[in-house]
Amino acid sequence: MSDQAKGIATTLIQVGAGDRLLRTRTVAPPLQRGSTLLMPDAASLYASQNPTYGMNALGVHEALVEGLKALERAAHVELFTSGLSAVTGAIMAVVKTGDDLLAVDSVYGPTRRFCDGYLARMGVRTRYFPAHATAEEIMSLAGERTRLIFLESPGSLTFEMQDIPAIAAAANARGILTAVDNTWASGLYFRPVEHGVSLSIQALTKYVCGHSDVFLGSVATSDPAVGRALADFVKDTGASVSPDDAFQGLRGLRTLEVRLNHHGASGLKVAEWLTTQPEVSRVMHPALPDDPGHALWRRDFTGAAGLFGVVLKSAAVAAVHAFLDRLRLFGLGFSWGGYESLAIHCDPQIKRTAVPWRAEGPLIRLNIGLEDPDDLIADLRAGLDALNVGA
Ligand SMILES: Cc1ncc(COP(=O)(O)O)c(C=O)c1O
Repeated sequence: MSDQAKGIATTLIQVGAGDRLLRTRTVAPPLQRGSTLLMPDAASLYASQNPTYGMNALGVHEALVEGLKALERAAHVELFTSGLSAVTGAIMAVVKTGDDLLAVDSVYGPTRRFCDGYLARMGVRTRYFPAHATAEEIMSLAGERTRLIFLESPGSLTFEMQDIPAIAAAANARGILTAVDNTWASGLYFRPVEHGVSLSIQALTKYVCGHSDVFLGSVATSDPAVGRALADFVKDTGASVSPDDAFQGLRGLRTLEVRLNHHGASGLKVAEWLTTQPEVSRVMHPALPDDPGHALWRRDFTGAAGLFGVVLKSAAVAAVHAFLDRLRLFGLGFSWGGYESLAIHCDPQIKRTAVPWRAEGPLIRLNIGLEDPDDLIADLRAGLDALNVGA
C-alpha cells in the first residue's frame, strides 16, 4: 500500500518505526523507551533467547546492571524503583512465613517499619541486636528459623560500624543469609559480596545518581540461589525501573568515584573542624581516629562518604532550630548523596529497641555536598553562633 493510500491515522502511527532512525551513534547508549519489544518473526514470540518484554530489559537497564556488577564485584544485580524497594525486595525474595530475621538496631527507619509492620503481618518475626554487637553475640540470638541477618554499616543516622566479614563468616557457617545496606560506601569504598555477604543493597538515589532527582535501588549477590530468588521476585512482582531513571543511574555511575572522593575529602575536613568547636560534644564519623568504628572502617573500607553525625553539647530544641535556620548553604531536607549540602535534626526519628539511644545533646546529620568546604565551615560557624543565641 502506498503512503498516499493510507489513512492519516495509520501514517502517524508508523512515523519513526523500524531501524531507520538508529543511524547515529552517540557517546552514551541510546535511551529507548518501551514496554513492548517487537519480535523479528512469529516463531520468536515464544522461543526468543532475547528479552520479549521491556520490563528491566532494555539496553540501558543492561548497561546499568553491568556497571553495578563491576562496582560491587558481584555476579548478579537486580534493579529496583527506590532504595527502600531494594531493601524490601531483597528481604521478600529470601524469607517465607515462619522465618525469623535479625536486624541491627541502628537500621534505616523505613527498613525497621517494613520489618515490624508488613513482614510481621506475613508471619516473619524481626528481632533487633545492638549496633555494636559482635558476630558471636549476634549468632547467639540465631535459631533454627533464622533466615537472614540484616546489617547497615555505618548506620545512616548514628554511624555505628559492624564487623561485616566476621558476621558473614559466622552466618555462612550456619547457613544463614546476610544482607547489608551498602548505600554509604556506594559499592566503591566497600564491597560486601567480596566479604561473604549474600545481598548488598544500595539506594542508588543517593551517591550513584548523585543529583537528588531520581529514585533508584539495586541488590547485588554472587550466590546463584539468591540471584535466582531475586530475579524471580522482580519478575513476579513487576518491580520495573523506568529507562529514564536507569539512564540517570548509568550517568551517575560514570562520575561516582570523582564525586565520592570529593564528598569524602570535604566531609572529613568539615568533620575535623567540628571536633574543635566548643559547641560540639563529638563527631560520629568512622574515618576519625577516635570514632568507635574507626578500626573496622580502616580495615574494611577504602574511603569515606560525606555523610556523618554531630552530637552537640546539651541544647534546647529552639536552639537547634536556630542553628539549622541560620544555615545558608545547607538545605534542610531528608536524603543525602546529592551535590548539595544538607542538614537535619535526627533525634525525632531515632528509634531503638535493643539499646536506647543516649547522647549528651542533640544529634545533627550533615550531608557534605560538592561546595567549597571552607564555605561550608563558615556557614556552620554562623549556625553555631545562632545556636548560642537561641540557647
Ligand atoms: C541507608 C538508607 N537506605 C535506604 C534508603 C532508601 O532510599 P530511597 O530514598 O531511594 O528509598 C535510604 C534513604 O534515605 C537510606 O538512608
